[in-house]
Amino acid sequence: MEQYRLQAIDLTKVYEDGKKGLVTAIDRVNLEVKDGEFVMIVGPSGCGKTTLINILGGLNTATSGEVLLDGKPVQGPGADRGMVFQGYSLFPWLTVQKNVEFGLKMKKMPKAQRAEQAKKFIDLVGLTGFENALPKQLSGGMKQRVAIARTLANEPEILLMDEPFGALDAQTRVVMQELLADISKKTKTTILFITHDIDEAVLLGDRIYVMSRRPGTIREVLDVNIPGVRSHESLVLPEFLATKKKIMDMLWQESMDAAMDQ
Ligand SMILES: Nc1ncnc2c1ncn2[C@@H]1O[C@H](COP(=O)(O)OP(=O)(O)O)[C@@H](O)[C@H]1O
Ligand SMILES: [Mg+2]
Repeated sequence: MEQYRLQAIDLTKVYEDGKKGLVTAIDRVNLEVKDGEFVMIVGPSGCGKTTLINILGGLNTATSGEVLLDGKPVQGPGADRGMVFQGYSLFPWLTVQKNVEFGLKMKKMPKAQRAEQAKKFIDLVGLTGFENALPKQLSGGMKQRVAIARTLANEPEILLMDEPFGALDAQTRVVMQELLADISKKTKTTILFITHDIDEAVLLGDRIYVMSRRPGTIREVLDVNIPGVRSHESLVLPEFLATKKKIMDMLWQESMDAAMDQ
């Protein structure tokens, strides 16, 4: 059997909601991420994406099912799975350099090595020269660069990203998508990225899982074959548009079904 970097087996989450009773957020979700792959999950708001990624990251627990990292069951959070969220979650009182060093300090990496490692990842995200800036002095895109550098500096086995560019304006978002495509190519980091944005899914993914509306299930898995390095120029290629259309049709069907249920 092929060993995956990350594997979800029959993950189901049922919330107990005081008002609504039992709410099934995700229903028997199976997915695999191979070493070095850039995998996207796309689905409508409320379909259980955050629930799913938080279970994979160990921040939430499944009602049933299992998460395997390198073939071994995982429980709870760990530095082996680096998470990046929409909110930047930086320490406001620490400089860029200190924010990126934070996890390394926790791991007791010696000071000089820590500084060097942080510098390397600050450079990777294009923030050289901003080492001594505080988060409040940075734009949204720059803060998210710091969050990415901080997570990558810990050298996780996989990067789990939950709509990390959702709060950015459209132009900044494309710049950040290009940056992440470039980082993935350079560092070969394994990435699982969740979004409700179809363009984002097709632009970044090697493979895309399309989720149904709640209770979230995996509707379809698509391979993306877009030639060359992914950039804003990919957004108008025929291969891009064909994949985008397929997903739009699937999600359109989902919202029609939802409207009929009202
Ligand atoms: N702690 C919770 N308690 C009860 N219901 C929840 C909780 N968290 C999420 N839900 C519900 O689960 C569903 C999926 O939510 P979520 O995973 O945040 O979806 P998404 O990230 O795709 O928007 C929603 O209907 C939401 O209201
Ligand atoms: Mg969400």
